[in-house]
Amino acid sequence: MHLPDELLEYDYRRLLTPVADAWTPLAELQAKNFLSQEKLDPLRTKLNAVRGQVAAERELQNPPAKFLPLQVGYIDLPQKLLEQFRRKGDSRELGKINRIAQRVRENCDRFAVLGVGGSSLGAKALFESLCHTYHNEMPAKMRMGKPRIYFDGNHTDNDALQDFVELLDNTCVDPEFLEERWGFAVVSKSGSTLETAAAYRVFRGEALKFYGPKSQYLKKLIVPITGPRSKLRDLCKADGFEDDDILTIPDDVGGRYSVFTAVGMLPAAVMGLDIRALLLGAASMTKRFLEEPFERNPVLQFAAVNSLMCEEMGKTQRVMAVWSKKLEAVGYWYDQLLSESLGKSGRGPTPLTVVNSRDLHSRGQQHQDGTREKIINNLVVRTTKHQPLVIGMSDRNEDDLNSLSRKSYPDLQDAALRGTNDAYTDAARPTADIVLPVLSEHTMGQLLQMLMLATAVEGRLSGTNPYGQPGVEVYKSNMMRNLKSMPNLPKGEVRDAAKGQ
Ligand code: PA5
Repeated sequence: MHLPDELLEYDYRRLLTPVADAWTPLAELQAKNFLSQEKLDPLRTKLNAVRGQVAAERELQNPPAKFLPLQVGYIDLPQKLLEQFRRKGDSRELGKINRIAQRVRENCDRFAVLGVGGSSLGAKALFESLCHTYHNEMPAKMRMGKPRIYFDGNHTDNDALQDFVELLDNTCVDPEFLEERWGFAVVSKSGSTLETAAAYRVFRGEALKFYGPKSQYLKKLIVPITGPRSKLRDLCKADGFEDDDILTIPDDVGGRYSVFTAVGMLPAAVMGLDIRALLLGAASMTKRFLEEPFERNPVLQFAAVNSLMCEEMGKTQRVMAVWSKKLEAVGYWYDQLLSESLGKSGRGPTPLTVVNSRDLHSRGQQHQDGTREKIINNLVVRTTKHQPLVIGMSDRNEDDLNSLSRKSYPDLQDAALRGTNDAYTDAARPTADIVLPVLSEHTMGQLLQMLMLATAVEGRLSGTNPYGQPGVEVYKSNMMRNLKSMPNLPKGEVRDAAKGQ
């Protein structure tokens, strides 16, 4: 279903080589750095073939070895979840997610997501983009029953972890009071990622200490989200969790493609977001991808433009310039998606997130005037949530702003965006816009699904398997080998949360 006024669009017209009436130095530079219609047009046939291939991959029961790993479950997942919900209501996955989220919301005031990479970045992107910018600082009354949200289990930083534990120790003293209770989701598809597994030990230990080993809150406020078979699942079952208390990440959905599984949907539901609208947005993007012609298909457009720019025009650095501080985490989510999906066998674009206009004051010089290996995709939200705020008239005009007193923040933003794009065009720096009419669950659903599908299409276009991340596995096994060969610190010199010390 489309809400016509909430349709995401990809506008790449600015990076097409303009038809020049006469030779000029700029025309020559643009011809070298922009995309010609002659390059784009022939790709259309290939794109249609790749779309057909991606669609057909969904049906493969026993894919040939050269396709492996193949994790395409994310393509139809949003639609499937919605259909199951329509037919079976609360008894299926969405119902379970809603039930657990409601239980969490009703029983605690702080909730952490312990997970790393694909098991954390999607939820963080949803939190930052769709919740109040200062959600955690808001009084409980204004948060309307939604707990404060934290992210951890994604690092190896001794001090940051203990600072978080210290925060809980100092603000949560008596578990009798809802406003002092905390909980967490432990999210790991493999169930063996060391950063998350170690953090789980620490927070499990802290929870046992805080609530007591027999407390009902342990099962109510700890939510395991993991693959169908994993050490984490075994551990939780040994701890007495029933299957119904554990949310499952399907085998056929890879970590960085898992935002519409419980990995993203449970935290989103705890945050009070409308997860059906998120899924509707995502499902509508899949439909557009599968059915619409190139002209109305942002997945194919984004994949084609960015792939050609990288593979044929030497634009190997892909900048996601987000024009809202609320979208920074979306940029980091895309960084991971692109890096792990296409950064293989000595190839693949290097992603970079910038938040504008802030980063125009740091990276702007380089992007305007530095090396030329970049394509810039602006991520722009057309309408604001709040009424436009004007600069305003002041009794002191030493700053010379009174002449701009009726100009608003959206005006400032628009002037900066257009000014930057024009400056880049005039220097033959290619830019395009991903446009969200508003920032909502429905548009975020479209955006995340569009970027996942486009990444898969790009992979197939360039002959890189977009699934799996063999490179990451090497560091993981080195890390484990190093750990095993290290001497243990003497008992008196360490803190052991698992033992309640
Ligand atoms: O995309 C991926 O599969 C990875 O980035 C994983 O999400 C990340 O390594 C975390 O893995 P896990 O969920 O198994 O702990």
